[in-house]
Amino acid sequence: MNKPDVGVIIAAAGSGSRTGSAERKQFRWIAGKPMLLHSLQRFQKRADVAMVVCVLPREQVSDPPPWIFQCDTDRLLLSIGGKERTESVANGLEDIPPECEIVVVHDAARPLFTDAMADAVIAAAREGKCAVPVLPVADTVKRLDSAKGITETVNRDGLWRAQTPQAFPRSILERAHTAARTDRLNASDDAALCERLGISCVGVPGDERAMKITTESDFALAEALSVLPG
Ligand code: CTP
Ligand code: MG
Repeated sequence: MNKPDVGVIIAAAGSGSRTGSAERKQFRWIAGKPMLLHSLQRFQKRADVAMVVCVLPREQVSDPPPWIFQCDTDRLLLSIGGKERTESVANGLEDIPPECEIVVVHDAARPLFTDAMADAVIAAAREGKCAVPVLPVADTVKRLDSAKGITETVNRDGLWRAQTPQAFPRSILERAHTAARTDRLNASDDAALCERLGISCVGVPGDERAMKITTESDFALAEALSVLPG
């Protein structure tokens, strides 16, 4: 076995405003444990993972929820989140130890990602690629104006939904985040920061279980998906 060289950043510093609940979604329980703990423990089960950096809201870094220590604390770091997701990931990236050649970025809001997804993105990153789990778009896609009038039916050929975990050669992700900071740019994922620099990114098979918990009804949906085998 080679020396562990994968550093993982779990973005968990958001406010979860779209759930409409006062409690931050990443700390709420889902499928038997707090949402963030699912991802933390799943990554730490991997022998190739050298460190998991959890990016938390500032007040939680000094006073973290006690359950967060139900893991290998030698491979856990806590970083302070930023106002936007991009800034939170950039903060986490600064804390990734130097021996990590591969960096995985994951949303705490996707607690049910699979080992196969992590395997696929990490394998691609080892070949020098930026890798994103993707799923096809099944619905017909419409563009609407502010009055909800339909202005266009968008051709969905070539459209895919992007998930996390995403994996990157470390130097590429650092370059992408440096450029984003210079250009004061925020994006909803990290691959987008690479794509805009002309760095090629590839899709690997995603999984419905890695749905992002965004609204209140997503909790029940994810709970149902969590019983799927595998
Ligand atoms: N995130 C983060 N730092 C931020 C904003 C978001 O680390 N400043 C994280 C969230 O905790 C989440 C992931 O990025 O795990 C994806 O973001 P999203 O689903 O939008 O979560 P929130 O921003 O928390 O929710 P909302 O947009 O509804 O407020
Ligand atoms: Mg958000």
